[in-house]
Amino acid sequence: MRKPIIAGNWKLHKTVKESIDLVTLLKRQVSEFGQAEIIICPVYTALASVAEVLLGSEIQLGAQDLYWEEKGAFTGQVSAPLVKEAGASFVIIGHSERRQFFHDTDETVNKKIKAALKWDLTPIVCVGELLAEREANKTMQVVEKQVKGAFEGLSREDLQKLTVAYEPVWAIGTGKVATPEQAQEMHAFIRKQIYKLFGSDTAEGLRILYGGSVKPDNIVGLMQKPDIDGALVGGASLEAQAFTDIIRGAVLARTVPSSAKGR
Ligand code: 13P
Repeated sequence: MRKPIIAGNWKLHKTVKESIDLVTLLKRQVSEFGQAEIIICPVYTALASVAEVLLGSEIQLGAQDLYWEEKGAFTGQVSAPLVKEAGASFVIIGHSERRQFFHDTDETVNKKIKAALKWDLTPIVCVGELLAEREANKTMQVVEKQVKGAFEGLSREDLQKLTVAYEPVWAIGTGKVATPEQAQEMHAFIRKQIYKLFGSDTAEGLRILYGGSVKPDNIVGLMQKPDIDGALVGGASLEAQAFTDIIRGAVLARTVPSSAKGR
């Protein structure tokens, strides 16, 4: 049984003070949810302060990206050891916004994953197709290439330490969520790619999160699908009540007897 993960990607939102306020609220509200792993990913400058607030809490901390070199003449970059020092134990890698606006490629995603693993950070590796790619029936081709590129040269043991997020780009920030059936189809497809590359134990153990307009009112339907193991939440993670409701929905969906779950 894969334990669900609900991760909040705060993107470029919230000052340090606003981040502390939100996490203080969340800490109080989510103490009742032992059945899910909860992660929040604020901006770099808020990591250390948020880590302090989270001491003794079950909520875990993630960064939104890293650079693969540890140090050197790389103005503006933040490396794995620095993210780790700031208190993060997770890191989002290859988010479509990084791929679209900051030139992340399958090759740099692969380097970033290796750097994260070296520093014992758990990568949340994002893959997903553009609307034009879906409309051209290229979704699987695109995602297969992203998966292969991201995990090039990694071992089974490496794969057991990471998480994947399927985020169709057309569903991000648009309010247009993938249907549970569309998401399930792609999650099963990703698991099959992992099976082909790394074998059945690795594929069965891998947690695959869905991201793209996840809200309290659509999380249950998504989480009832057998290959959807959690969510990477953008907009709705910026508000304590909505994020808590999403976590509650995810936990609830998992308590429905498996015979009642649709495939
Ligand atoms: P939204 O939930 O705002 O669509 O963002 C999804 C996302 O990109 C999470 O990484």
